[in-house]
Amino acid sequence: MKKIILTGDRPTGRLHVGHYVGSLKRRVELQNSGEYEEIYIMIADAQALTDNADNPEKVRSNISEVALDYLSCGLEPEKSTLLVQSYVAELTELTFYYSNLVTVSRLQRNPTVKSEIQQRGFHSSIPVGFFTYPISQAADITAFKATTVPVGDDQLPMIEQAREIVRSFNSTYDKVLVEPKALLADNEACMRLPGTDGKAKMSKSLGNCIYLADEPEDIRKKVMSMYTDPDHIRIEDPGKLEGNTVFTYLDAFCRDELFAEYLPEYNSLDELKDHYTKGGLGDVKVKKFLYSVLMEELSPIQAKRKELEKDIPAVMEILHKGSIQAREVAARTLSEVKQAMRINYFD
Ligand code: TRP
Repeated sequence: MKKIILTGDRPTGRLHVGHYVGSLKRRVELQNSGEYEEIYIMIADAQALTDNADNPEKVRSNISEVALDYLSCGLEPEKSTLLVQSYVAELTELTFYYSNLVTVSRLQRNPTVKSEIQQRGFHSSIPVGFFTYPISQAADITAFKATTVPVGDDQLPMIEQAREIVRSFNSTYDKVLVEPKALLADNEACMRLPGTDGKAKMSKSLGNCIYLADEPEDIRKKVMSMYTDPDHIRIEDPGKLEGNTVFTYLDAFCRDELFAEYLPEYNSLDELKDHYTKGGLGDVKVKKFLYSVLMEELSPIQAKRKELEKDIPAVMEILHKGSIQAREVAARTLSEVKQAMRINYFD
């Protein structure tokens, strides 16, 4: 069976370093590994509209932002098809047929939907489109017969629900769809990078994100005001690593080779941690090091973004071409689906 990747993001804002270590960086590695025959990266604008119906302009303006983030991180249109979800009308049709295989109570039990309903304060006014977006996400994945879906762990219930839909479809009709598997980041810090305030997750509304496209000076300020160990008051005090955001970020970003250049008194992150927990190492020094480590990773991405920003129409053209290509693939799957359901009356 062909190895195929599909994943995506909602265009509701620029991408941040949590997206980067949690998924984006991995996608680029997977792309360059040459192990996958097809790779689809979707800008999920239709899904973004399920809770932004009154603000299509926000979604619209973030399409090119997310595309710029993709391209500047190293996704290449020659190797990965970049597409816009709403262009692929076949996805909506698949969603409609899959809806008949899913119960309301199953959607109500989906943990991601549950927590997002709470976060958004929908109470009993949940938009139907939002409530059913796991079904549309199953369409996104299955339309391309994806075997592998690189995502953050908050998306696991979505993949599980997609797998159930595939099994139900294949047993009710005919074996047309492919069961996808989630692929998580392998480093725990990367899997769920906290916000700069130490809160569980980076989120635009909490204002605790470092964006890939932030100016270096803003990144420096954000790092210098990061949450650490509140009991680590004087330099001599022993410091705690658990829940210490600066160290979590180092776990996600630091490579031991970087010490030689930026903090030559230490050879490895373990040595640095050791000194911190024993006492005698101040937060400011660790934060300055983290800033250097972050910029080491982000500078080339930012330089590339500045180049790409000069020609937005070229970026949009990449998305347009990718969307046309993707649509052909989804149309083939839709036609197999209709054939399996025997509703292809006029073939
Ligand atoms: N729900 C994903 C998110 O919020 C975005 C997404 C849409 C997606 N369709 C997808 C992810 C298909 C993986 C596969 O980030």
